[in-house]
Amino acid sequence: MNSKIEAILAKKGIAPVSELTAYDYPTAKLVDEAGIDMILVGDSLGMMMLGYPDTTHVTLEHMLHHTEAVARGATNAVVIADMPINTYNTPEQALQTARALMAKGADAVKLEGGAEKEAHIRAIVQAGIPVQGHIGLLPQKVKEEGGYRMHGKTDEEAAAIMRDMEAVVRAGAFSLVIECTRHSVAAAITKACPIITIGIGAGHGTCDGEVAVFHDLVGGFPWFVPGFAKPRADIASAISRAVKEYIHSVSMPQ
Ligand code: KIV
Repeated sequence: MNSKIEAILAKKGIAPVSELTAYDYPTAKLVDEAGIDMILVGDSLGMMMLGYPDTTHVTLEHMLHHTEAVARGATNAVVIADMPINTYNTPEQALQTARALMAKGADAVKLEGGAEKEAHIRAIVQAGIPVQGHIGLLPQKVKEEGGYRMHGKTDEEAAAIMRDMEAVVRAGAFSLVIECTRHSVAAAITKACPIITIGIGAGHGTCDGEVAVFHDLVGGFPWFVPGFAKPRADIASAISRAVKEYIHSVSMPQ
């Protein structure tokens, strides 16, 4: 296994793991130099970079293009490339997609789904490619589910998410994103889970680490901010201010 991933695994129960999305070279370089543990080239780039309403419009070509740019900018962080919708419908297709993303410089791939994706994850892991799973809310299923909602609210749903975690672990994934899941359920899953759990919208301190969308962190996408996001900057306002100052300076006499 890649030594960068071994270092992440060694943090289980000892130190929290930080993960952020990045979709381009300068952002990857900045977050890498700031010391982030893992960079996710998330298919959230569909909204953050490409102006789509959700992740279901993202193609493998998009992901290959952005993964290559991020990999050029990241030196120390583990670069994880998201597998877009309909590129891992069978274990064979999953392995082909994972290989294509790894060829662009990723250290690992991520795919959505628990029990129903066990064979797909296993096929990738058996080929020597590290996998991050993703359970709870699955953004690629947003159309089927009719929107984004908190998962694990009933005992049945909580038990199903626990079974999903067990399937992802059996398949050999090194890490697991738990998205928009009741905080007590995310905590219980983390306690029972031997691999690194990474929460988003699943409560602070409930998982082994957290992932955030870069634009949510820096206030770079003001048109939609998820309720659980904690912006620590306001780059949208800074950009707007700089552009207005520039327009003003251009209109000034020489
Ligand atoms: O695409 C993405 O940014 C993600 C995170 C929300 C985990 O999958």
